[in-house]
Amino acid sequence: MSSAASALITDPALNVPPRHIAIHPLTGQIGAEIEAGDLSRPLAPEVVDEIRAALLKWKVVFFRDQPLTHAQHVALARAFGAPTIGHPVFGFVDGHPEVYSISRDRFATRHVGEPLIRPWTGWHTDVTAAVNPPAASILRGDVIPPYGGDTFWTNLAVAYEGLSAPLRGFVDTLRGVHAFTAPEGQGTTEDFKEKNRLRPLVSEHPLVRVIPETGERVLFVSPSFLKRITGLAPRESQQILDLLFEHITRPEYTVRFRWQPGSIAFWDNRTTAHLAPRDIYALDFDRQLYRITLKGDVPVGVDGRPSSIIEGEPIEAFSAGTA
Ligand code: SIN
Repeated sequence: MSSAASALITDPALNVPPRHIAIHPLTGQIGAEIEAGDLSRPLAPEVVDEIRAALLKWKVVFFRDQPLTHAQHVALARAFGAPTIGHPVFGFVDGHPEVYSISRDRFATRHVGEPLIRPWTGWHTDVTAAVNPPAASILRGDVIPPYGGDTFWTNLAVAYEGLSAPLRGFVDTLRGVHAFTAPEGQGTTEDFKEKNRLRPLVSEHPLVRVIPETGERVLFVSPSFLKRITGLAPRESQQILDLLFEHITRPEYTVRFRWQPGSIAFWDNRTTAHLAPRDIYALDFDRQLYRITLKGDVPVGVDGRPSSIIEGEPIEAFSAGTA
């Protein structure tokens, strides 16, 4: 194994066997199920530390049979960071400002027309239009279809290492513009336009960010939101983005998660992208999940240069005055 991410997975510092949780890896490159007891109760600091270490290594971790209330979900999130407002543009659950509703039909109020479907359509990293995208997201399954509705994640660190050295050297130098706009081929509703007018978010990020805790380089490309590469001609930009988007969604970098009511997925939003399911639109079943995101840092590129704001403000930790 030559990749840095695989090296991370074999890094002795991250391979101290946990003493307070059980970790069950799901693939060779990303994803592990964790047994850590009842997450509705306050977690011991050692348990929090071990889950954090597992998250750094496996990028997304899953818990089963945790039927949390919104308040318990918020308390769990606070053990790992500072929750933001549910979603800076699309709002939050009434009475629970840190909680964002992932309902089956949430896109119906945003987009119109047929998207141009490409292999990477729908893949994204949460809220990369912000200068400081969330550090992590914690998604809780509530109403889950009897079949269908799985979510995929991909490991952007192994994807970076999977590029050839000359291409890594080139993308290390690039930056790109991230914005909330409709998927290719679709338009937006008046409601979507108004929400984006009230809370505009457009940012420029390095295409490769460096993760402070591990030194990993991550291919920070978010297919739904990364619109163009700064400084390239439009055709060059589109063709390089298509190559990178196709690359990060290669199956060998991914894990697929089958939800049950009470399942939780907790991902490092700096080092992963994910895909919400599309098969649910062919089914008559409801699907309802709830997500909390943790405040993130401003990404920093290989050259030490941080991301920059084109429009909008950073996403702050939620406090009663910020809703
Ligand atoms: C999300 O994109 O955060 C939600 C993923 C899902 O619906 O499975």
